[in-house]
Amino acid sequence: MAAFRLFLFFFFLLFYLQPSRSHESCHPGCDLLVPIHFPFQMMSNPPENRCGYDGFTVTCKNETRNILTFPFSGDFVVDSISYFSQRISITDPCNCIARRLLQGFNYSDTPFQPLDTRNFTFLNCTSDAPVFQSPGGVSPIPCLSSESHSFVALPTERVGASNTSSCTEVVTFMHPSLDDSIKDSILLTWKEPDCGRCESDGGFCQYKYDTSSEVSCFTPFDH
Ligand SMILES: *[C@@H]1O[C@H](CO)[C@@H](O)[C@H](O)[C@H]1NC(C)=O
Ligand SMILES: *[C@@H]1O[C@H](CO)[C@@H](O)[C@H](O)[C@H]1NC(C)=O
Ligand SMILES: *[C@@H]1O[C@H](CO)[C@@H](O)[C@H](O)[C@H]1NC(C)=O
Ligand SMILES: *[C@@H]1O[C@H](CO)[C@@H](O)[C@H](O)[C@H]1NC(C)=O
Ligand SMILES: *[C@@H]1O[C@H](CO)[C@@H](O)[C@H](O)[C@H]1NC(C)=O
Repeated sequence: MAAFRLFLFFFFLLFYLQPSRSHESCHPGCDLLVPIHFPFQMMSNPPENRCGYDGFTVTCKNETRNILTFPFSGDFVVDSISYFSQRISITDPCNCIARRLLQGFNYSDTPFQPLDTRNFTFLNCTSDAPVFQSPGGVSPIPCLSSESHSFVALPTERVGASNTSSCTEVVTFMHPSLDDSIKDSILLTWKEPDCGRCESDGGFCQYKYDTSSEVSCFTPFDH
C-alpha cells in the first residue's frame, strides 16, 4: 500500500513537472491588469514555446510595466489591450505623450497603426497668450510648459483661425488620431493575425502547426 502511494506521488510529480507547450506555459506579463497572451508574448518566453507573433513581443521593465518597443520611436507602456477589437493603448513611461509625438511618432516596422492621423502644429507661447483665453481657449501642455513659456498643440487647419499672437510656430507633426487635442495615450490597431472574431466567440488563437505562422482558433470545447 505504501509503495503504491509512493508510486502515485511520483506519478503525479512527473505529470505536473512535464514541460507543457500549450499556452499555459506562456508568461502572462508583469502587469496583471493587462494580461499578455497570443498574439502578444513576453520576451522571457523561450522562442520554441511559440507564445506569440512577430512584432508583438513585450518586455517587463521596472517589474510592473509591460513595455512595447517601437524600432524607431522607443519604449511605450502597454496601457490596455482589447484582444477582440484588436486595439492597443500605449502611454509614455514618463507621462508626456506630447513630447513623444513632437519627436515624431514612427510606427514603421511594427504590426500596429493608428486608426486615423491628423497634422498638428506645435506652438511656443507666453503664458498669457490670447490662445489660452476663454471662450474657446485651449490648455497648455503641462509636461512641456514652464513658468515663462507655455506650449500648445493645435490641429494644423485650426491655426489660421486662432489668435496666435504671442506664439511662435515650432513644428508640424503627425498626430495618431482625429482628436482635437493630445490625450494621455495613443490608440493603435493591428490587422494580422486576425483573432478578434475568435476572441469574441470565447476562443483563443494559437499557432496551427509547430513551424508555420498560420494561426487557428481554439475554443474551450476543443480540449
Ligand atoms: C524605470 O525606473 C527608472 C528609475 O526609477 C526610470 O528612470 C525609468 O524611466 C523607468 N522606466 C520605465 C520604462 O518605466
Ligand atoms: C521611420 O523611420 C525610419 C528610419 O529613420 C524611416 O526609414 C521611415 O521612413 C520612417 N517612417 C515614417 C512613417 O516616417
Ligand atoms: C499632413 O502634412 C503632410 C505634409 O505637409 C501632407 O502631405 C499630408 O497630406 C497632411 N495630412 C493631412 C491629414 O492633412
Ligand atoms: C520658446 O520661446 C522662447 C522665447 O521666444 C525661447 O527662449 C525658447 O527657446 C522657445 N522654446 C522652444 C522649444 O522653441
Ligand atoms: C489677438 O489678441 C490680441 C491680444 O488680445 C489682440 O490685440 C489682437 O487684436 C487679436 N487679434 C485678432 C486677429 O483677433
